[in-house]
Amino acid sequence: MTHADPESPVARPTPVSAQDVGNVLDHYYYLPDKLRVVAGEGVYLYSDDGRRYLDCSAGTFNLSLGYAHPEIVETVREQAANLIHVTSKFQTGPLNDLVAKLAEVSPPNLTRVHLKSASGSDANEGAVKIAQAHTGKSDVVTLFRGHLGQTLAMIGASGAAFRRTPFPSMLPGVVHVPDPHCLRCFYKQERATCGLLCVERINDFIDYASTGRVACVVLEPISGNGGNVVPPDGYLQALKDLCEERGIILVFDEIQTGFGRTGQMFAADHFGVAPHMMTFGKGLGGSGMPIAGILTEDRLTGVAGHHINSTFGGNVLAAAAAVKTIEVIGRPGFLENVRAVGAHVTARLRELAAKVPFVQEVRGVGLMIGIDIVDRTGRPDARLTNHLAELGLEQGLLLRTSLYGHGNVLKVRPALIMTMREADEMCDLLERLFLSVA
Ligand SMILES: Cc1ncc(COP(=O)(O)O)c(C=O)c1O
Repeated sequence: MTHADPESPVARPTPVSAQDVGNVLDHYYYLPDKLRVVAGEGVYLYSDDGRRYLDCSAGTFNLSLGYAHPEIVETVREQAANLIHVTSKFQTGPLNDLVAKLAEVSPPNLTRVHLKSASGSDANEGAVKIAQAHTGKSDVVTLFRGHLGQTLAMIGASGAAFRRTPFPSMLPGVVHVPDPHCLRCFYKQERATCGLLCVERINDFIDYASTGRVACVVLEPISGNGGNVVPPDGYLQALKDLCEERGIILVFDEIQTGFGRTGQMFAADHFGVAPHMMTFGKGLGGSGMPIAGILTEDRLTGVAGHHINSTFGGNVLAAAAAVKTIEVIGRPGFLENVRAVGAHVTARLRELAAKVPFVQEVRGVGLMIGIDIVDRTGRPDARLTNHLAELGLEQGLLLRTSLYGHGNVLKVRPALIMTMREADEMCDLLERLFLSVA
């Protein structure tokens, strides 16, 4: 068990509420975990029984600056006293600053910022709408393991059949294609000799499985929920070439990979490939402020504001926090730290992988790392993956698994402010956890 750090100002637990827990749980639509959280600070979370947990997944991979980053807290406090919300029809200082900052830090071709989305799912739908309106075409090509959101349309566009099974109506015209997952290559190729067959074959999917009217390809440059699949060198560029040859809009969903997660501002920078459109969310909020949006090329403007709009889109409070987040991430040394800590964690986890029989691969970029868990025959083992996450909780580690518990990857994506000391503590705890089941 990881005990509360007596030095921490948030280590003293306070009760969550005076209500009887049993009654409260009866009223939840879904059953939450037993853990009752009272505070968070940096990479740590504190529960009402005084325990401290190291969060390996930065909340929902969105706390780029960790829990309660002091500058975000201060920014939000100041902004809240002034203006929390105004209809996104009007300009405000924070929104104007954010638009300017986003245009400055994004790939140079992405000059237009759309901030009227309430969530990542919403932003992805907006991107599809823009692509459809611009091209006059309908279909959307996405990856088997893609995770693009929770609305009906984005469940339809996401991969993994289990997510679609309960819902009869979704986005029509979606063509799912195999991921660039070299460890488990759909085409049984070796990277050295494959010639990026997985990109070439997308032509066949377009020619034979689509309506012949493809508006866009939407993908995460590194699949998050799908299992931290990092595409091989050249994949994204080849995909962009294919899109440009066929008049298709290439959209990167950078909702997880954006704002420093890969050790660069965007995964587009890491891979050196600029998409025609990009969606963002999660980490831009710094310590959890809800904000999401779309970046596009100039030529893709023209869809009226009311077509992609949400009451909470472009929230002023969140915009102020987002401006501060970009400022912090852009400071000298910040991204270098992400790269150094990420490389250190990856190296330590690879050493650990050699000591246990159930880790097939540790893969990732920056602080977007996945641990691929297999059974004795080398097959993906979702049961063991979930077991490790549950045991981790008992041992003071918050771990999330891929594909909502259907996947075999433990996701190591802590807050980007993680220090080397905290990284070593995380790796020590993971080592103790893994050795306890080996
Ligand atoms: C890559 C990716 N895209 C889209 C989404 C959906 O974002 P939101 O939950 O803000 O709607 C998520 C959320 O997990 C995500 O990881």
